[in-house]
Formats: sequence, C-alpha cells, structure tokens
Amino acid sequence: MTKINTLKAAWQDLYRHAEEMRATHLRTLFAEDPQRFAAFSLQSGDILMDFSKQRVTAQTLRLLRQIAQASDLALWRRRMAAGEAINHTENRAVLHMALRALAQDAPDAAIGREVAENLERMRAFCAALRAPSGGGEHVTDVVHLGIGGSDLGPRMAVQTLAACQHPDLRLHFVANVDGAALAPLLARLNPRSTLFIVVSKTFGTQETLTNARTAREWVEASLPDADARVGEDAVARHFVAVTSNLAAATAFGIPASRVFLFGDGVGGRFSLWSPVGLSLALAIGFSGFAALLSGARQMDAHFLEAPPEKNLPLTLALLDLWNFDALGAHSHGIFPYSQSLELFPAYLQQLEMESLGKSVDRQGAPLTHGGSPILWGAVGTSGQHAVFQLLHQGRALIPCDFLLLKHADFPLPDHHLHLLANGLAQSAALAFGETPEEARARQVDAALLPWRAFPGNQPSTTLLLERLTPHVLGQLLALYEHKVFCLGVLWNLNAFDQWGVELGKKMAQRLLPHLEDEGERTPGAALDASTRGLIAALKTRRGA
Ligand code: F6P
Repeated sequence: MTKINTLKAAWQDLYRHAEEMRATHLRTLFAEDPQRFAAFSLQSGDILMDFSKQRVTAQTLRLLRQIAQASDLALWRRRMAAGEAINHTENRAVLHMALRALAQDAPDAAIGREVAENLERMRAFCAALRAPSGGGEHVTDVVHLGIGGSDLGPRMAVQTLAACQHPDLRLHFVANVDGAALAPLLARLNPRSTLFIVVSKTFGTQETLTNARTAREWVEASLPDADARVGEDAVARHFVAVTSNLAAATAFGIPASRVFLFGDGVGGRFSLWSPVGLSLALAIGFSGFAALLSGARQMDAHFLEAPPEKNLPLTLALLDLWNFDALGAHSHGIFPYSQSLELFPAYLQQLEMESLGKSVDRQGAPLTHGGSPILWGAVGTSGQHAVFQLLHQGRALIPCDFLLLKHADFPLPDHHLHLLANGLAQSAALAFGETPEEARARQVDAALLPWRAFPGNQPSTTLLLERLTPHVLGQLLALYEHKVFCLGVLWNLNAFDQWGVELGKKMAQRLLPHLEDEGERTPGAALDASTRGLIAALKTRRGA
C-alpha cells in the first residue's frame, strides 16, 4: 500500500473506532480497569501527565500512533532539529530548540555561535544592570514594549515566576496601542531610573513603535540634560532593542551596542528563549533564565528520544487529534490551578491558535483533518465561579487541561490544599458526573433532577507540576511547543507562518488617514458603507 493510502486507512480506522467509542462513558472505562491511572499516565522530569480521564482505550492509542507513524512524524522531527526550512511558505528554519541547545547540538556552528553570543550579552547586561550604577541612576523599573509573541511569553513567565523575582526591580509590560496601557504607567515612573526594552522582531509593528515613540518623547522631555552629564543621550541610556531588524532599531535612536539581534528562524510565539526573554532574565536573574533554558532542553531531549508510548508531547497531540478530529470537539479549555499561571491560557492561545489556526495544508489544498480548536481558559479556582457551569451542564464536548502544582509557590496554611482539592474535584466531576441515584442520595429534589443532572463524560488531562521554578516552566512550555509541532505534522499544515494576521494590519494603515483627516467630513467612497458610517459617526462625536 502506498504511503498516502496507508495514512488514509489509518484515519479511516480511527474514525470507525470513534463511532464505536462515542457512547462509552468514562465511568465504564474506569470500572473496566481499576489500574486505569497507571495505564494512562506518563512522567517526564517534573511533569506527571494523567490522561486517564480522556475517553480513550489502549486500542485508541494504537490507532492514533499509527497515524503518527504514517505521517512520518519522526522524519519531520529530525528535519526541524537539523535546521531545515520546514516553514516552507517563508522558506525559514524553525529554530526555537536551537536557542536552548548546547553548542554541540546546534543545527550548525553559525547558529550555535549566535546563540552563545546572545546569551553572553544577556548575561553581561543583566549583571551590569544589577550592579551599582556609575554616574546614572540605578534602574528600578523595566518597561517591556512589545505585542503578541514579543509580549505574551515574557509577560506570562515573569508573572509565573513571581516568587523568584528580584525584590527591587519592577517589571512592566505594555502591548496595546491604547493609551490606557502606557499613559498611567508613565505617570508614575521616574524617567531617570526607567529602562525601556523595545521588543519587535520586525521593528515594524505599529502598536509597539507607537508606544516606543511616546516613551522616547517622555524620556527626552523629562531628561533634557540629566544624561548629558554622563555623555550619553537619553535614548541611548534608557532604551535597548530586541529585534531582527538592526537598521530600524538604530534609526529609532538605539545604538547597535544596545540592540540584541535574533534570527528569522525564531518565530515570535516561540521566541521567549531568545533575547525576547531579556526582561525575564532581568526579573529572575540570568541564572534563572539559564535554568528555564535547561528545563526546555530536558523536554527537548525527551521529545526527540522517548518512544511514542512514553512521549508526552506526542501523546498530548494525539489526544487532541482524538478529541477534535474523531470525537468532534471544537474548543479546548485550559485551567491552571495556580494564580501565578493566570496568563498561561493567553500565552497558549497564541502558541496554538496562531500556529494551527489554518485551513490550507502544506500543499495548498483545503485541510482534510484538523486545524486549531478554540483555546480558552481561566485560572482555578476562579473559573469555577464563572465558566464551569457550561462545562458541567452545557451541550458541548469540551476537553480540558488542568494544571496543578504539587508545591505552592506562595504557601499559606490550608490554602494550597483547598486549591488542589478543587482542581482534582472538578476534573473528576466533569469526568464522572452524577447518576440520578447519587443525586437522590444527596437529597436532590426528584422534581428538579432534569435541571440538576450532571452527565459527566467531559474528558480532561491533568498535568501535575512539581513546583513553579524556571526549570519546570521551561519543561512545561517546551512540552506545549512540541505538541504544536506534532499537530502541524499530523494535520499536514505549516505551524510556523501566520499570514492571517496581515490583512487587518494593512487595512488599519489604509484607514488611519481617514481618521486623522479632520477635514474629510465624508470618508472616501472607496471604503465600505459600514466603515464609512462609523468613521463619520466618530468624527461627528469628536466635532461635538
Ligand atoms: O501579528 C502577529 C505577529 O506577527 C506575531 O506573530 C508576532 O509575535 C507579533 O505580531 C509581534 O511581531 P513583532 O515581534 O515583529 O513586533
């Protein structure tokens, strides 16, 4: 049988199996196998992955792994590690693993040298910034200006690792172009002790450049002469840039000596491990940043070497294939039972939906399988008081990932036990629900049973993390990065471009002059009637 026919047959076998499994309840699966937890959980490093509450059997996993094998997953994995241009629509390699690899494991010597040089520059910069300053002020506040992958990873990681943060350095993140993001912050900062890090791979993202220009004006207006005494202009002293576009950064006024460069092969949503993570390194110290890289490197080794039946990233990906392609779910809930991981769902939304939110395969044809589900989530336990009603009694099949910490990062007596009890209870309640007999046993009024029923059978995976350290966070983020890579292969799509973001940006650039032009009372006929009407209404209100 040809390779393509083998793959087609594997998918057909999976869909047939799904029809057989569709009505099977998790209650039944657990009743059939008292050792189900042992059979459907895996450990790698500091992460225990319990997928026993997924609606799968050993046969399900066999069929899923057949699809992985027929999709040449191992070959694609080797191609990524070797630095091949697997991002074929941009003709780029995919190098986030190289950012945390040991020099001898880099795809080539040049990449290894670039990574090592960047890390040394980051180390030196962190050491200098924390050392007692010379003529200038000691930096007390660092403002990270960036958006999307140039914001979400560092912002999430700094919050996640709050327990490891340097006590007298304050980190601030500004992404949105809305003045409400930057203005209140500038109002309370001291320009003499503030450092701005402008993070933009292209150095062309309008939100980031607008914020950077306003910050530059604020610094120059506030420090007309302060920095003259130390022989540097204000921008040179209070700004650094992280970008792939050196020319644009120096044109902005940041000297090359204060520009951290990273290559095209690093995708924005995969860039935390590059100098994009400079604000994180300042927050937790370079040794903490190195520990983050080490944790990711450990997961990389696991991903590259573990056999399919032990491979956590591949197993996570195959469970998505099962839930979204075979069982027909459309959304995926992410619930970290850790306040410090509150931003993890937002980070994962970009990582997964910007990577996998596609409808065209690698050959340019419409996808026959997959494409990202809608990712959403909330921090536990707060989410239980907002969205869990839908999970328990709504109509949709919504697979969930629960993240729990074995050890609290901010321990208070009893608090962590309450948090854990809720996290464990919610995944169990979603899985097993409550029978009418059980409801009656707890005195539920029989007349209200229809409204107080808990059908259960909502699948979930629980990731139990040892604790929140840079090393464990590195393992966790790499786990999901590799899951995304696997889904790109299994769905035969390019997970590393993001052409879908450009039309809106282009249209915004075309609309801006219509909004800026006070004299243009009736916006150009070239605009659609809705946009024309809204712009006119905006101007009318402004006129009033
Ligand atoms: O618009 C989407 C996007 O290109 C993301 O992929 C990227 O992380 C973000 O914008 C910011 O881009 P840049 O780092 O070039 O400013």
